Amino acid sequence: MDQQAKADILSAGIAAPSADNSQPWRFAWHGDELDLHIDAGRSGRVSDSRYVLSDLAVGACLESMVIRARALGYAADVQTFPGPEDERWAARIRWRPDPEGDRPGEPLATAIEQRHTDRRFPWRGPIPADVRDRLSAQAQRITGGRLVWPISSAERKAALGLIRRAETLRFKSPLLHAELFSSVRFSSGWHGACEEGLAPSTLAVEAPLRPFFQMMRHPGVMATFRWLGAAPMLGWRSAWLPIRLSPGLCLLVIPSAERADVLAGGRALQRVWLQATLDGLAVQPYASAGVLSLGFVPIEPAFRSQLSALSSALGTLCRSGQGLVFLRLGYARSALRDRSGRRASGSFGVFP
Ligand SMILES: Cc1cc2nc3c(=O)[nH]c(=O)nc-3n(C[C@H](O)[C@H](O)[C@H](O)COP(=O)(O)O)c2cc1C
Repeated sequence: MDQQAKADILSAGIAAPSADNSQPWRFAWHGDELDLHIDAGRSGRVSDSRYVLSDLAVGACLESMVIRARALGYAADVQTFPGPEDERWAARIRWRPDPEGDRPGEPLATAIEQRHTDRRFPWRGPIPADVRDRLSAQAQRITGGRLVWPISSAERKAALGLIRRAETLRFKSPLLHAELFSSVRFSSGWHGACEEGLAPSTLAVEAPLRPFFQMMRHPGVMATFRWLGAAPMLGWRSAWLPIRLSPGLCLLVIPSAERADVLAGGRALQRVWLQATLDGLAVQPYASAGVLSLGFVPIEPAFRSQLSALSSALGTLCRSGQGLVFLRLGYARSALRDRSGRRASGSFGVFP
């Protein structure tokens, strides 16, 4: 494999999404083999207990690389979690020339650099059935992956309530709130970009609300807001309203919460998101409901009973398996101006 192909594959991986734009990937080449690790310094925070969010990001990164490699004429033999003694060693990938060459069946490669998160609303619809079928088919390309579409008004109501309660918890729990706000890079201002974490400009906060949002990073101020009953309002604004004003919502479901299944879920997530990009759809993921319902997050005891309520509501919605990430979908009125950046490639480990 030549150096240019290796560099192209890695930049496809780095373009993948990660929770809070943490980019928790480390790469190491051994000849034509590539090891993919979870970065110890960028993983394992409260919501990332048992590496659920990192495994999803690793799966998305892996799938991005596999898709780009296929477009370059390489196939991948992937072994996930190859060394049980190292919990952050996520995958070993052996690249080899693909006898079938650049498969016409992989147009997703062209969407890798265009894919992004869009948190604006309202979005237009409806989303035609054939587009929904294409997204579902991409999820199913990864063994065990599938999408559930809450279409009936009862299902949509249940999903909306569930996501709102999970997002509200992120503001009610001082632990989750501190974690969320530590990812926001207020120093980049409301119009700037940043290469890691969340730039305020990507969060779609309306101008009049910005001073309040900025004040929320201070624990004392947030405690007062909570006392005034602001947490449910914040859950309503950050989740219920944008979803209510968007035509599409789906839930990525995986067979179990085993790490290999979560990583595969990240692969399916990336395929669905790339297909949505090709179909001109804007996408915002909502991961809190799925992640909190797994019960791994060591949240304050006062909120634990709410986690089991979330888990049973999610179970009813997806019937079998583990619902993991909701995706809000729709057609945006204009192209997005502010997107999340990425760190310099040299910071991800050993490059070719
Ligand atoms: C596992 C996972 C969970 C995420 N959860 C959320 C979420 O709950 N809310 C949200 O607005 N964005 C969420 N995102 C989107 C990330 O914040 C986004 O991918 C990251 O900031 C990089 O930006 P980009 O997608 O525009 O490249 C999630 C992404 C991943 C991969």
